[in-house]
Amino acid sequence: MRVRVSPPAPTLNANKMPKPPLKWAGGKRWLVPHIDPLWRKYAERRYVEPFCCGLAVTLGLEPERALLNDLNPHLINFYEQLGRGLSLKIEARYDAKLFYSHRERFNQLVKENRSQNAEAAQLFYYLNRTCFNGRCRFNQRGEFNVPFGQYKTVNYAGDFQVYRNLFRRWSFNYGDIEKLAIEPDDFIYSDPP
Ligand SMILES: C[S@@+](CC[C@H](N)C(=O)[O-])C[C@H]1O[C@@H](n2cnc3c(N)ncnc32)[C@H](O)[C@@H]1O
Repeated sequence: MRVRVSPPAPTLNANKMPKPPLKWAGGKRWLVPHIDPLWRKYAERRYVEPFCCGLAVTLGLEPERALLNDLNPHLINFYEQLGRGLSLKIEARYDAKLFYSHRERFNQLVKENRSQNAEAAQLFYYLNRTCFNGRCRFNQRGEFNVPFGQYKTVNYAGDFQVYRNLFRRWSFNYGDIEKLAIEPDDFIYSDPP
């Protein structure tokens, strides 16, 4: 008698994957065990994510080479700064007054066109952790306008060492998907809005 054995169910241990550093709605971490067996067959290729936002899938697959793109310049600045060894030097507490003061400072940097640096990255991280539901919304002037969040407590990372070695070997790109320079043998995972 021949017995057919079905392929084993994905068993990737989600606890071993680095957690995304930001809160981000719509993250597909749960999808990683399903994409992983396909990715492993092509893992020597460059991994490309045109709408990378929370990096849930990329951090689950941990590609050697990656091109990670998004239309949000603050997100891309934050990831680039992590690769350069960002640590949190600004005051970080779950406090409404501090939140609005940091939001004002972030928006001042945006207004002065100085939002692509380590200070803006720290403020972006703080705002993301502390604002309402981790939302990321800007007004027409490009100012972050999400209000203070409703949590019991918020934990802030002191440093981001766990990401540094991964992020320094990946390329981050700010731009529209239409202008993304992809190569014929790239492995592309696309989760459009
Ligand atoms: C639905 S999320 C992708 C979810 C992500 N794969 C994850 O698992 O966390 C959408 C992202 O697409 C970005 N986006 C929207 N329009 C874009 C465009 N035309 N080109 C590149 N990125 C864009 C947004 O900035 C946002 O960060």
